[in-house]
Amino acid sequence: TIKSIILAGGSGTRLWPLSRELYPKQFLKIEDVSLFQETILRCLQISEISEIYVVTNELHKYFVIGQIEELGYEIPRDNILLEPEGKNTLPAIYYGITEIQKVHGNSMVAVFSSDHKLDKSAMETIKNARQLSSEHLVTFGILPKSPHTGYGYIKPGDKLNIGYKVSEFREKPDYKDAEKYISEGCLWNSGMFLFSTELFLNEVALYASDVKDSFESSNNIQDIFENVPNISIDYGIMEKSSKVAVVELNHKWSDLGNFNALYEELNKDEKGNCVLECEQLLLNSKNNFIYSSPEKLVSTIDINDLIVVDTSDALMICPRQSCEKVKDIVNVLKQRN
Ligand code: GDD
Ligand code: MG
Repeated sequence: TIKSIILAGGSGTRLWPLSRELYPKQFLKIEDVSLFQETILRCLQISEISEIYVVTNELHKYFVIGQIEELGYEIPRDNILLEPEGKNTLPAIYYGITEIQKVHGNSMVAVFSSDHKLDKSAMETIKNARQLSSEHLVTFGILPKSPHTGYGYIKPGDKLNIGYKVSEFREKPDYKDAEKYISEGCLWNSGMFLFSTELFLNEVALYASDVKDSFESSNNIQDIFENVPNISIDYGIMEKSSKVAVVELNHKWSDLGNFNALYEELNKDEKGNCVLECEQLLLNSKNNFIYSSPEKLVSTIDINDLIVVDTSDALMICPRQSCEKVKDIVNVLKQRN
């Protein structure tokens, strides 16, 4: 079988103020089930509940336990790994991999983000990629729709049995490079991975030995996370390793990373407005994303392509095209505190 690691430690800064450090986007219930719950249900197609490991932090532990219980499953408490602080995805995955290695020995592991919308049927493609996973770090590529600068770009090289060797992996290029990568036939990195624990540990030893050293320097997770560098698997391993493969994923996929992605995903009225929770009176206004509380009436006049997010203690307004910059607000707020 395949073991699963779910990364659920991000705080979703580009969805501020909807997504908060205390209530991050993967646990938000914008529809019936949260993105985290959808991720659990997908993982159950390839792993038993006892083979699913969730890497998160103390603040979010009860969301994890509670939202899994709501689905009617009980996850062993030892499968919930708590990071003392977020150091991005490479340390998070390393933590998961070392636990799996301890309990199950060398295993095949699939890694999932918890902030994606993805068709359930995609899990078949992931299962099928098993044959590549002992010799490759398998990535799953999505046909790009635009030169989005928030994704990794994957250039397929030599054909393999299924999928391709990756000739170049480039994390979050600037707009011009993204355009170039698209014209060269690159795919977006979906943010899901499949590999054996053994190969992963080998590649980390080769390309991110400081991560390995931190984990080996102590048995105390507090000390380990204090010292381990803050780095994503994309920059730390995928850009450097020569053993990356890609399998194309032809399924509906989206990273609900910013308000525009949320806008694209959700239902809109005939004027292209997506209004969540609140009452609305929109005059001559098109293609807006508006969120406010149910007791409020939001009215706009001659307003187009805007994002308005109104919560009890914060209001954020920006043009839809600037939605990637919402994280800048969070950064400024963090520095102030
Ligand atoms: N446990 C834990 N700890 N989880 C984390 C941490 C951390 O420190 N940081 C991020 N995560 C979780 C997030 O909650 C999310 O589910 C997942 O890891 C990916 O992190 P993001 O911060 O959302 O990454 P990204 O969207 O900017 O980029 C990644 O995903 C893209 C596709 O969605 C990269 O892999 C890109 O290459 C890829 O295109
Ligand atoms: Mg993301």
